[in-house]
Amino acid sequence: MESGLNPSQQKITIRQPDDWHVHLRDGSLLEAVVAQTARVFHRAVVMPNLQPPITSVESAIAYRENILAALPKGCLFTPLMTVYLTDVISPNVLEYGHSKGVFFAAKLYPANSTTNSFDGVTDIRHIEPLLDTMERIGLPLLIHGEVTDSKVDIFDREAIFIETILKPLLSRHPALRVVLEHITTEEAVQFVETSTSNLAATITPHHLHINRNAMFAGGLRSDFYCLPVAKRERHRIALRKAATSGKPCFFIGTDSAPHLRSSKESSCGCAGIFNAPIALESYAEVFDQEGALDRLEAFASEYGPAFYGLPRNTNSVTLVRVPQVVPSYFTVKNVDNSIEKLLPFHAGETLSWSVLVE
Ligand code: NCD
Ligand code: ZN
Repeated sequence: MESGLNPSQQKITIRQPDDWHVHLRDGSLLEAVVAQTARVFHRAVVMPNLQPPITSVESAIAYRENILAALPKGCLFTPLMTVYLTDVISPNVLEYGHSKGVFFAAKLYPANSTTNSFDGVTDIRHIEPLLDTMERIGLPLLIHGEVTDSKVDIFDREAIFIETILKPLLSRHPALRVVLEHITTEEAVQFVETSTSNLAATITPHHLHINRNAMFAGGLRSDFYCLPVAKRERHRIALRKAATSGKPCFFIGTDSAPHLRSSKESSCGCAGIFNAPIALESYAEVFDQEGALDRLEAFASEYGPAFYGLPRNTNSVTLVRVPQVVPSYFTVKNVDNSIEKLLPFHAGETLSWSVLVE
C-alpha cells in the first residue's frame, strides 16, 4: 500500500487546518503544550477531561480564558470548548451553554473508559434527556466509543460499542450530529462510511502509523499506549485508506494527549500520546506514503468545518519535504520549578516533512 510516492513534490501549501480533538490539560502542562497546537492549527476542539471535569458553563469559560492566557503573544488560536457529560448534568446547562456560544459540543466518556473518565456516563439510558435536548438545539455529541465491561476484550471494545450503543443511539436520535472520535477499527470505518451524513469520525496520526505491536516491541512501551488502543495491522490499513479516501465523513482530530514522563513510566502508565509538536507532519507522511498528498487539505482543513457548519480558515500553511528529527523530549516546568520530561510521538525519528516557518 505504501507506494505512490511522488518524490518530485517538494512542497505543499494547504488552507490552515483545525484540530477537531485535542487535550490541552491545565496548569504547567497547558503552558507547555498549547503553543504546539496553535503552531499550525487555527481552531481546536478542546476535550473537557480535566480533574475536575468541565461540567458547567462557568468552568468552560474559565478554562477557555486559561488557554487564551497561556498562548504566545499575538497568536491567533480559537479554542472550541466542550462539556463533559455525566449522569447528573442538567439539560438546561447544555442549552444555556450552547445559547451563550460557550459549548461547542458535548463529550461522552463512558465511565472509566479512559483518562479522567470516572465521572463519565455509567449507562447511556441516564443521558437520554440530554441527547433529546442536544438533538433539538443542534449541539454535537462527541463520543469516546468503547464499552467498559471487563468481560469484553480491550481490542473488541470499539466494535462492540458500535453494535450495542451507537447504532441504537443513532436510530433513537436521527437528527443528532455525532462524531465517533479517534476511530481504531475497520468496523468503525465501515460503519461511519455507510451511515448518514450526521455521523463522522476523527482519525489520529498515531493510529495511522502504529499497530498494536508498537506497545510490545522489545519490551512494554507505554509511549504507544493510548485509548482506544492501537489494533491489528488490518485495522491500521483500513484507517489509512479511510483518512486518504477523500470521504468527507473522515477528518483530522489528533487526540494529542500529553502525560508527564513520570505518569507514563509507571507500573500503571497513563493512556495518551502527545503528538501536537509534529501532528501535521505526521499526517503528511502518511498521505505522502499513500500517494494522496492532494487529499491532505480536504482531510485537514475542509471536512471538519463542513461537518460542523463553520467557515473554512483563510490562512494557509506550507509543508516542505525537508527532513526533521523529532526531539526526544520536551520539558515542562512545574510550579515548584522542578522540570519534567514530556515525550512526543515519533520521538527521535526523522520525518520527511516540515512545516515552513515564515
Ligand atoms: C486521553 C487523555 O489522556 O486524556 N487519552 C488517550 O489515550 N487518548 C483520553 C482519551 O481521549 O481517551
Ligand atoms: Zn482524546
